[in-house]
Amino acid sequence: MSLHKRLKTDVLIIGTGLAAISVALHLPNGMQALLVTKGTQRQTNSMRAQGGIASAQLEKNHEAHSADTIRAAKNRTNPSTVDFVTREGRTVISELEAFGVKFDRKKQGDYAVGREGAHGIPRIFHSGGDRTGRQMMEQLLKKMNHPVLEQTVITRLLTADGRVVGAAGYEGDERIEISARAVVLASGGIGGLLLTSTNDDMITGDGLALAADVGAELSDLGYIQHHPTILVHQGKSAGLITEALRGAGAYLMTRDGRRVMDHHPEGDLAARDEVAAAITAIRKQESVYLNTTPVAQLAERFPTFVQKCEKLNINPGLVEVTTGVHFLMGGIKTNLAGQTSVAGLYAVGETASIGLHGTNRLASNSLLECFVMGKALARQLQLPPRRALPTLRPIFGCEDGVSKQQLSEVLAVELQEDRLQAALEQLTNKSFRQTGRRAEQHRLQITTARLLLEGALHRLKGEQLTNEQMAPAATT
Ligand code: SIN
Repeated sequence: MSLHKRLKTDVLIIGTGLAAISVALHLPNGMQALLVTKGTQRQTNSMRAQGGIASAQLEKNHEAHSADTIRAAKNRTNPSTVDFVTREGRTVISELEAFGVKFDRKKQGDYAVGREGAHGIPRIFHSGGDRTGRQMMEQLLKKMNHPVLEQTVITRLLTADGRVVGAAGYEGDERIEISARAVVLASGGIGGLLLTSTNDDMITGDGLALAADVGAELSDLGYIQHHPTILVHQGKSAGLITEALRGAGAYLMTRDGRRVMDHHPEGDLAARDEVAAAITAIRKQESVYLNTTPVAQLAERFPTFVQKCEKLNINPGLVEVTTGVHFLMGGIKTNLAGQTSVAGLYAVGETASIGLHGTNRLASNSLLECFVMGKALARQLQLPPRRALPTLRPIFGCEDGVSKQQLSEVLAVELQEDRLQAALEQLTNKSFRQTGRRAEQHRLQITTARLLLEGALHRLKGEQLTNEQMAPAATT
């Protein structure tokens, strides 16, 4: 097979979101890293994050944060993971500040922490109001001095004697092969495979397919979080509306003023899955709206939301909302050093599954996980000597990818076994005959879609993992 470009690095990081950047920023001096992304380095979900980052920095200890995480996750977490992330989370704000990130403060100088669904108290730190992800990422990218290869898709991992020793794919349309002493999957979630998603279109769960290809253990793929508030404009979805608005007093209602979450003891600040389920049920009959009129200083605290409404010529005081695909709770199983069950292969951030999120992630725990676990991985990484790459054999893909429409209809808030089964059969029958970047990308997407459908079927059959089974993956 003809090869056009060969590169070599110590640590190949697939992705450029917060998890990837946190790994890169925390690697020991002298360790080389190369980051690759299918699009541009700024095309990440981390850049889009509005809500903020949860931290118990202002609390006596991390216990209440830990308890809220477990409760929102319906008790299906690995308690030692939750303990680790929330405890480490107490210092993330000052660590990010040391990198130059500025968090919002009140006039008197105290942090302006906010509250979101299922948090017992306000503990969400913001930067630039609802522009937290962008502000944080822009600053961290300035500090990160490892090279980034853009427009580069990794379509397969390369192994030798059961160990991942590199990866291959395409830079633009040119074939590329990268030798690495460790490969880190930080490629985010799966929202780009589905319609009405808060994710960048490019985020299509490639890491899951790459990991499955080399036999890495995956877990809890049936748990997809649907965000309760996606703006609706002229019948179409027009992007995320941060949950922090409800934390600041906004509430969900029907056209005649009935409160959607009145039945729930936590009202509009119930856990995300419960709010999404309530909205889905009501939307079968009528529209649901978010009333933001109780929110003080709306434009100052929520500039992304207000500017979007202005652009669309919508009154920000009352907007129609629907639910949308937001986050994958499961993923590639790792331990707290980011190690998967395959030697040489690591995973971090949304693509990994460490037992933190159970069946429903607590709001604003995602940026927290990315930063904490990226650092933990980098600090514990031990590199073996470089191994020779195996001979590359052709890999076949498919002319068509996955139908977003069809996948979205079946991986909905309410799952139906017969529809999931039919979609899975259809994808299983696809034949892979084409070569080239597009075809190989389609192969990854189809593989990921199948994994998600299988995950959803397992979930429906009650075959989900127990807490005991959520123990960390074997170390390598
Ligand atoms: C939001 O701003 O509502 C999303 C934050 C998150 O995903 O935790």
